[in-house]
Amino acid sequence: MKAATTQGFGFNSVLVVEDTSKPKVGPKEVLVEVYGSSVNPKDWKLNQNLSSFTPRLGGIIKPFIMGDDLAGVVVEKGAKVVGFELGDRVYGMNMGLRTAACAEYAAIGEHQIAAMPNSLSFIEAGTIPLAGLTALQGLNIGKLKEGQKVLVIGASGGVGTFAVQIAKAIGAEVTGVCSDRNIELVKGLGADAVIDYTSRDYLSEAADYDLVFDTTSYFSLSLCESLLKDDGIYVTTVGGGKAYLNLIKDNIIFNRQKSKFVLVKSNTSDLNVLRKYIDEGQLKPVLDGEYPLEEIHQAFARSKTGRAAGKIAIQVKKVEQEALVASV
Ligand SMILES: NC(=O)c1ccc[n+]([C@@H]2O[C@H](COP(=O)([O-])OP(=O)(O)OC[C@H]3O[C@@H](n4cnc5c(N)ncnc54)[C@H](OP(=O)(O)O)[C@@H]3O)[C@@H](O)[C@H]2O)c1
Repeated sequence: MKAATTQGFGFNSVLVVEDTSKPKVGPKEVLVEVYGSSVNPKDWKLNQNLSSFTPRLGGIIKPFIMGDDLAGVVVEKGAKVVGFELGDRVYGMNMGLRTAACAEYAAIGEHQIAAMPNSLSFIEAGTIPLAGLTALQGLNIGKLKEGQKVLVIGASGGVGTFAVQIAKAIGAEVTGVCSDRNIELVKGLGADAVIDYTSRDYLSEAADYDLVFDTTSYFSLSLCESLLKDDGIYVTTVGGGKAYLNLIKDNIIFNRQKSKFVLVKSNTSDLNVLRKYIDEGQLKPVLDGEYPLEEIHQAFARSKTGRAAGKIAIQVKKVEQEALVASV
């Protein structure tokens, strides 16, 4: 099967698409024929660099295949799989170091997938799991409720575009932070107000948000303190070491305001929540761009700019959509 992996070492590693063997399924896993996947910053921040340090040892260690998100069709199932049948259209992610979703076939635990939203193509569905689950779980960690006020920093990014829509679906009053070129996009997602961070120093303003959801992971509770109510919550997606240090520092200082972080996990029940929002028309993926598997290096390059508006989709395999849907 075709799969995206790496050649070279360290920061000089390059992405390549090469032939490798199909994965074997464990007793509680299914084999998914993958049509859609996506790029998340984790893919190049962690996986690509780790993979390039993994020696192949003459084929004993298999190539490290990129990608967490997948959408596709179940073509094989382990002996103990109870929730899925051959032909089911599914989406999900593993979040392990070897999810290996950017490949024509991927093995994944049945507890890490769910039925795919009916209204979406594989390309669209493949952009949802990691970023959509991060948004849902981040807002849940922040205990966001109907009628509360939330500030979403990074509202135009992969996680942010989902967070704005999910917060609206919860019934919150949503303000999104983005640069000037993404204002209309964020408004279009339903945000009640938009702050352009390129022209307004909103971090130094006083406000009364119940929750600040920092999807960029650039900031900290200390920096967002004046934006929050006395008992408000700051949630970050912790994108690196500095964010972890800020979390520790913010939680040592006694404060009624809380600083929390989300470390996304895949599970069927949260994927079902996302599907419900999508099928009810409250949530849709925003696509920054779509790349065939062979051009995955360009998709990674786009993600590395930090300027993607929405998700970067990977078309792993072309599908005659109608024909496939009709046959399942
Ligand atoms: N902990 C976890 O489980 C978890 C899960 C998912 C993601 N993450 C991390 O969360 C971060 C975001 O992920 P992502 O997929 O959303 O990334 P992304 O799609 O690459 O985010 C890009 C967006 O960030 C916005 N942005 C950049 N600087 C900004 C600023 N100063 N203020 C507001 N917005 C700004 C950009 O908007 P403009 O172009 O308009 O500036 C762009 O739309 C990454 O660090 C990722 O590693 C962590």
